[in-house]
Amino acid sequence: MKIKVIYPGTFDPITLGHLDIINKITKIFDFIVIAIFENTKKKPLFSIKERIKLTKIATKKFKTIKKVITFNRLLVQIAESENINYIIRGIRTSLDFEYELNMFNINKKMYPKLENISFFPSPKYSYISSSLVKEIVRYGGNVKSYVPKSVHLALLKKYRNIPI
Ligand code: COA
Repeated sequence: MKIKVIYPGTFDPITLGHLDIINKITKIFDFIVIAIFENTKKKPLFSIKERIKLTKIATKKFKTIKKVITFNRLLVQIAESENINYIIRGIRTSLDFEYELNMFNINKKMYPKLENISFFPSPKYSYISSSLVKEIVRYGGNVKSYVPKSVHLALLKKYRNIPI
């Protein structure tokens, strides 16, 4: 049976933690949509166009990723419009779990067909986040082991004006 899933996030920027989850789901599902939330509340460093580009570059080898889309409305609205009933989420710690459960319950109330499928990232990525990666680069640290090469270069360009 063909199961369509949606993997949403802000992806500002996509990290090896996200890619670890993506790597797992591409082995299971054959129709995956990555949905990038514009998320002005988080004041993203990368524009929505840049986030799409970086996400597409980082995921281009995965044949089961059928679309990389952006959205600026409720996740359930985008899931319904794409005819998708399964949301993929990554759970790094117990703190993520509380947040995810709450979000799932709210989403389920709005879109009863919805189900959540959660994955645990590998331990080596369980402590990173897009914000931490940005902070490390801003203050001169090295994030090579946390992000794909294209993201690393894009971060250097943003923060240190190093041409890529
Ligand atoms: N490895 C490493 N880091 C990870 C990770 C993983 N596997 N999974 C998530 N992260 C990081 C992300 O980089 C992010 O870092 P940041 O907070 O520093 O930016 C953090 O964990 C949180 O990620 P995530 O839980 O995916 O949240 P998000 O803010 O990126 O995305 C949405 C949340 C977009 C899914 C959610 O806000 C949403 O659906 N919004 C749409 C509006 C809506 O429907 N609202 C009602 C929902 S209740």
